[in-house]
This record gives sequence, C-alpha cells and structure tokens, in this order.
Amino acid sequence: MSQALKGQRILLCVGGGIAAYKSLELVRRLRDAGAQVQVAMTAGAQQFVTALSFQALSGQPTRTSLWDSAAEAAMGHIELARWASRVLIAPATADLLAHLAHGLADDLVTTLALATTAPISVCPAMNHIMWKHPATQANLATLRARGVQVIGPEDGPLAEGESGPGRLSQPDAIVAALAGAVPADAPVQGPLAGLHVVVSAGPTYEDLDPVRYLGNRSSGKMGFAVAQAAARRGAAVTLVAGPVTLETPPGVTRVDVRSAAQMRAAVFGAFPADIYIGAAAVADYTPRMPAPNKIKKSSESLALDLVRTPDILAEVAASEQPLKLVVGFAAETENVAEYARGKLIAKRLDLIVANRVGIPDGGFESDRNAMTAFWKEGQREFPCAPKTELAEALVELIGERLRA
Ligand code: CTP
Repeated sequence: MSQALKGQRILLCVGGGIAAYKSLELVRRLRDAGAQVQVAMTAGAQQFVTALSFQALSGQPTRTSLWDSAAEAAMGHIELARWASRVLIAPATADLLAHLAHGLADDLVTTLALATTAPISVCPAMNHIMWKHPATQANLATLRARGVQVIGPEDGPLAEGESGPGRLSQPDAIVAALAGAVPADAPVQGPLAGLHVVVSAGPTYEDLDPVRYLGNRSSGKMGFAVAQAAARRGAAVTLVAGPVTLETPPGVTRVDVRSAAQMRAAVFGAFPADIYIGAAAVADYTPRMPAPNKIKKSSESLALDLVRTPDILAEVAASEQPLKLVVGFAAETENVAEYARGKLIAKRLDLIVANRVGIPDGGFESDRNAMTAFWKEGQREFPCAPKTELAEALVELIGERLRA
C-alpha cells in the first residue's frame, strides 16, 4: 500500500447525495492508509447517512453545523480548516461544486472549504444530465484552474435507474487518486507551518586520543523521525546530528557534528528558532585533555580525567532566545516519571519526553519504543510503537502545546 497518506490529516466533507453511503467505506480506507480523518457533513448528507456512523468509523466527532457551540468550543471551524492537510469532498453534488466555484460559504462544509489553505480534492456524484450541464462543467473548469483535484465521476448505472457519467468513484479509486496527488515528501499544512524547528539527534563522541572516543548507543532514529515529522507539517527544520549513519529526511537541513561542544555551537548557530527539540544523547563528560597521540598500553590501569560538558538543553531553555517551546528527552531505565518531571523543572522545559531505555523491545538501537511526555499540568502515554509513529504523535502534541 502507498505510504503517501500516512500521517495526513484528511478533512472529509460529505455532500447530500445517495452516494454518501460510500463515504463511510471511504473513511475506513483512508484510515487503513494511515491517515487521520475528521468528517464534516452538509445538512443534505445527514438525510442519507448519520453523523454517528461517521463518528464510529473515524474515531473523531463528526461536525454537522457551524452553529454547534459545544463542537466549536472543542475545536473551532477555523482551527479544523487549519488542522487539515488535505480536504476531500465526497460526494460533491452539483450544488456544492457551484458553491465552491463561487466562494460561497453559507454552511459548515463550504465555510471550511473557503477557510482552508490545504489542497482540495472533489469527487463529484450526481445525475448524468446535471453532470453534463454547462453550468456544472463551467464550475468544474473554475475549480480545476484553481488547482482543485477532480476525482471521477464514473460512468454507469445511476440511482434513478438511468445510466451515464455521474457515479461516485469507488472508495479504493478515490484513495489511490488522493495518494497519487500527494508528493512523497509533501509537507502537510499544520500547526508547525512556517516555524523554524531545531532538532538535535544521535550521540556525541568525545575523543580520548586520535583513535578512541567515548560514545553511547544512541542511534539517532528518534530525533531523525521527529525532524521528518516536523518538516512534513510545514516547519523549516534544522537537524543537528551527531555521528550516525542515517539518511537526511526530505526537506530537512542537516548539520553534522561530533562532540558535545560542536553540537552546542551548531545548535546556537542555527538560532533564531521557534522550537528546540533536544533528542540527542549528549555526553555528560568529556576528556579534560584529549591526548594528541595514541595512548599507549603502558600501565596496568588507566584513569580518565573527565570534565562536564555544557548542558545544551538547559542553556537553550535559560537563554534569551525567543523560543516558543523547548522540548527535552530523558533517557531513563528506572523511576521514569519522577526523573523526567525533575528534569522538566530543573531545566525549565515546556515538555519532556521520557524515553524508556534498557527494555527488551525498545530503547536506543531499536526501531520501536514506548514513551511518556510530561508537561507542567499533564502527561501523555505513547505505547510501544515504531519510532516513526511516535514521532508523528509527538509532533502532534507539540502542536497542541504551542496552541495551549
Ligand atoms: N542534554 C543536553 N546536553 C547535555 C546533556 C543532556 O542538551 N550535556 C539534553 C538531552 O538532549 C536530553 C536531556 O538533556 O534532551 C536529558 O538528557 P539525559 O541524558 O536524560 O539527562 P541528563 O540531564 O544528562 O541527566 P542524567 O544523565 O543524570 O540522567
């Protein structure tokens, strides 16, 4: 299955036609493809299918009216329009297409369509004479010229017993067309759009002599996944990477460093930024004086003289930099909540992600992990999942904390 829709936030707007029942299946297919789906319905759509059915399938409240104060309090319609990375209108009736073409916004769905900057795809479904009508075709031409993707309709038997073009495309075909329209590294619009995010990732190596160093087992996978997730949400991302062998995520600016001191310089060199995410496993100690030549095996034991490295994260949080959010990680093997909350306060962070290390399935070198995020007033559990999924969920949370 294509990965293009993975992590996309799809606002599915359902118009008032008998084909609305097919949109129930569409929700399921979109979720199978890894997308999050929120549904908005026109008044007409509610004559054919219920909001409750969409709610059960999408796992999110279905929006049916501009004037629902409880729903607006939970997530205003402008916020919903901004939340979407793609808007899919299926079925799109002739009337709905006319509204869209002319910029009319007299109900929830048409207002959302006007208030979003996300790409819009429409899936027309109507009687074949209405489809062929010059007014409908002119409206479609207007929408196409504006960059709207038109998916279908199919030719075949219609609900009224007639036959011709006007059937809603099959859910699978809609999902495939939508996925095809999403570039592989498409930035998704979202709460991070336009923000500069600096992410540190990987270990640091502290040289003992020209051939040896002190390092740690961090793979950098989590930090790289976070950088990628932030970039996909429209952020400009600078990734300060310790020595790792990972590929640079698409659209991310990478600065390679080796030691804690170099990482500090690169992080501050990347500022100003809106968000700092310290996912690197920075060495806490470095040799006071790296030996200029290879240390020889001359004595029975060897004591290393180490000094503390700068705590980059704490320095960033305490700096005058106009950051909106500072996020730290806490690699802990025990007392996770206590230690993480302690670091949140001590380093004056906005959010800390406790990264459980030393568990059989997860931790430093694994592709999977479990983690808990803590902020002053709350916490959120992220059960064991691939790091790419955790990163998506974490970046969602960062968006929420930005708005809080
Ligand atoms: N960190 C940092 N600079 C350091 C050490 C840590 O920026 N010199 C950051 C890490 O990137 C991480 C957070 O601090 O976001 C916590 O790192 P961790 O190793 O868990 O904690 P420490 O503060 O080093 O404390 P300890 O090792 O005693 O648990």
